Amino acid sequence: MTAPAAILKTSHLLGIQGLSVEEISDLLDLADSYVALNRAAEKKSAVLKGRTIINLFFEASTRTQSSFELAGKRLGADVLNMSVRTSSVSKGETLLDTAATLNAMRPDILIVRHYDSGAAELLSHKLDCSVVNAGDGSHEHPTQALLDALTILRRRGGFEGLIVAICGDVLHSRVARSNIHLLSKLGARVRLVAPKTLLPANAERFGVEIFTDMREGLAGADIVMMLRLQLERMAGAFIPSTREYFHFYGLDHEKLALAKPGALVMHPGPMNRGVEIDSAVADDIEVSLIQEQVEMGVAMRMAVLDALARGIASGGRNT
Ligand code: NCD
Repeated sequence: MTAPAAILKTSHLLGIQGLSVEEISDLLDLADSYVALNRAAEKKSAVLKGRTIINLFFEASTRTQSSFELAGKRLGADVLNMSVRTSSVSKGETLLDTAATLNAMRPDILIVRHYDSGAAELLSHKLDCSVVNAGDGSHEHPTQALLDALTILRRRGGFEGLIVAICGDVLHSRVARSNIHLLSKLGARVRLVAPKTLLPANAERFGVEIFTDMREGLAGADIVMMLRLQLERMAGAFIPSTREYFHFYGLDHEKLALAKPGALVMHPGPMNRGVEIDSAVADDIEVSLIQEQVEMGVAMRMAVLDALARGIASGGRNT
């Protein structure tokens, strides 16, 4: 049997910034094939048989952690979920010491979410296994952007010229950063829509259009991507009140009507209903892709694990 073709040039997935358009396209193709497997009655493949994956999450997660776990299991790997709350991390063990301990158990892939930007990259230099960034501070969350791209691709058939309005708390959002990089690489026109206090300094450097008026920012948009107001990352007042925020920046049907007819709505979850998005929009299956994003998340994470395992098969551990 011939080995499957390599997809990724490196043995880690740390961010979208380091990926080429070709690597992204190959991941999208592979993930698309896993959507079909996930919809079949028999969902198991053996491409990761014998491999060990560790999920190490220092921040809360529903979708990302469970979909990585399911992805690994569907591909036949052994998956260990480290509970940071009950581990020695709660006794003050450092990130590097925890990771070194796990490394000694010889995992093949470590999936890490951490509140510090750069945490995943730091581990990739210190460990022998492949490292996947499942979100580092407000820096990157590459698999979220990849699953969002898969969702858009399956609905719209491509990215060239598509207007995507990313709305809300851009300042604190790693999802926004990864999506800006990915959508721009694939030829979409990205807009950021947010109050000035929730935009990063010099946001224009990302090569995007900036809007502080949501009505103007939504005009003619094909995709409206809403972001959660990340109150846990806010030290101080970034908005006058959540009520006022909803009035100006919350997505309801009235504001959505300003976008292109047939525009679709996305949200990475978890949602603050009535703060950045009205339930009537979030639950409207004619426009909302939110549940589809979750389904694509499992498929995309299977593709990422498969792609990394191909690298391991050809190169072995870094030791
Ligand atoms: C996002 C995250 O953790 O960055 N959630 C997710 O992975 N689906 C977005 C968020 O927390 O708002």
